[in-house]
Amino acid sequence: MSQRVTRRQFLNYSLMGVGSFMAAGIVLPMGRFALDPVFKSGSAGGMITTSVKISELKEEPTKVDFKFEQKDAWYTSEVTAFAWVYKDGDNVVALSPTCKHLGCTVNWNGDKENPNQFFCPCHNGRYEKNGKNIPGTPPLAPLDQYETGEKGGMLTIGKKHPNELAK
Ligand code: FES
Repeated sequence: MSQRVTRRQFLNYSLMGVGSFMAAGIVLPMGRFALDPVFKSGSAGGMITTSVKISELKEEPTKVDFKFEQKDAWYTSEVTAFAWVYKDGDNVVALSPTCKHLGCTVNWNGDKENPNQFFCPCHNGRYEKNGKNIPGTPPLAPLDQYETGEKGGMLTIGKKHPNELAK
């Protein structure tokens, strides 16, 4: 015997389906939020271990890649970024490559006429080695700095903060 679905039943089923979907959209992220601390055990103190040995760093800035997880609401993705890193005596300096003018990427020694500086090709912005913006070029602030550290001889990179070297 065939059972016919009435219009009312069809509407009830449809609304229940949509309602369940919407409830899942609210409840699942809450669960993820509650469990978040459990998933956070990856990088101790927020420092990311790179594949570069501290002993390999030089006084010349080098590009060092690092990866971290970026959360956008409940969506997590792996992002690759880099810093310009160099040794300054016993200190390790890591600078953000993001130009403080309009956010292009700066290069070390990118302008042959002005060696030993960071150069932004977008509008000819220039910075000294410590990240200080050079007056008369478009950037109005120094390059940001990253916290640095060491774990088992490897360079670790932490939070970005305003430049403390450029005075
Ligand atoms: S974005 Fe770097 S100089 Fe304009």
